[in-house]
Amino acid sequence: MTLLETILIKLGIAPKPIFDTSLNLARAKTILVGNKLGIFEKLSGHSLSAQELATELDINEHGLSLLLDALWGVGYLQRKQGVYTNAKVAQKWLVESSPRYMGNLLRHFDDLWEPIGWLDEAVKAGKPVRNLYDYMSEHPAAWRNYTLGQKDMAMASVSEIVRKVKLPPQARRLVDLGGAHGYHSVAFCRKYAQLTAVVIDFESAVKAGQEVVNQEGMSDRVSFKVGNYITDDIGNGYDVALLFSIVHGDPPETNIATIKKVYDALNPGGLIAINEILSYRGKKESEFGLLFALNMLVNTPRGESYSYDEVRGWLQDTGFVSISRADLRRLPAYSLVLATKPA
Ligand SMILES: C[S@@+](CC[C@H](N)C(=O)[O-])C[C@H]1O[C@@H](n2cnc3c(N)ncnc32)[C@H](O)[C@@H]1O
Repeated sequence: MTLLETILIKLGIAPKPIFDTSLNLARAKTILVGNKLGIFEKLSGHSLSAQELATELDINEHGLSLLLDALWGVGYLQRKQGVYTNAKVAQKWLVESSPRYMGNLLRHFDDLWEPIGWLDEAVKAGKPVRNLYDYMSEHPAAWRNYTLGQKDMAMASVSEIVRKVKLPPQARRLVDLGGAHGYHSVAFCRKYAQLTAVVIDFESAVKAGQEVVNQEGMSDRVSFKVGNYITDDIGNGYDVALLFSIVHGDPPETNIATIKKVYDALNPGGLIAINEILSYRGKKESEFGLLFALNMLVNTPRGESYSYDEVRGWLQDTGFVSISRADLRRLPAYSLVLATKPA
């Protein structure tokens, strides 16, 4: 789109709803399909024509040509005399050998395509047509995309998180509720030499997480426990508890109970660290947070995005002190909420 066209849309002269819907829908799916078909992987370090790529992928050349041109149009490929290569954005974020790889996460977003199509039904009923966890239980590949996708996201922000979440110097034991891939625990254990961690999650997440931790060579410090942090014992004697991207999956009363459980499981002076997509960014309601609440509506029975004030209230009422918040810069929609159990 030209600058003039963008201005005309902003001024309300050109019809904004067309571009907010049809264009965004097509742009999103084009990138997801490029990722799904492995196009960015094939073009990593290679320049190929549509014909060569169609032969390599064993798919129709006409359909592929249209997709490649669209990927060029949205800025994910470069095109010169009918030959394609990755644009910087694809090479940086969508090629597996890159430390910034987000391809698993995009595969997970692809798995969310169908449920977001049922948004109208979910809005009318106030609940999802299908619970994502039920679906994933029957589709192990989807669960793997989900867990490794969360790891992709963790990779983007973990160095900032470890810098902003300062553990008490005597910290020895960490519990990571719904810790899935275990990568946050790995990073904390790397920074704090005395620390060991236990990740509590469902069986399918633990399976993928164990692979990640083995690859990182940290299985002697980061262990896994298959379990449900709501209904099962989570242990005790911890110096720090991570509740990263789990609060949005549960209703308020469950979150209050989980925070109380964590309070009881922490040593005096212990730290609780919550990482969340909050519905407010600073004093302003966040577009991402508000849209994410719909994502929760279509995928979970009662998940939603919460405000900092709500989360702070739950912590305060439980007895936590020194409650603070830090917005993440490397993952712009996310915020840390930190609090301490009195010593
Ligand atoms: C959005 S992911 C977050 C993963 C990781 N904490 C992170 O921030 O990257 C939520 C994780 O919580 C797990 N989970 C959700 N409810 C759970 C429960 N009641 N007991 C154990 N794990 C749960 C899911 O299986 C999933 O791995």
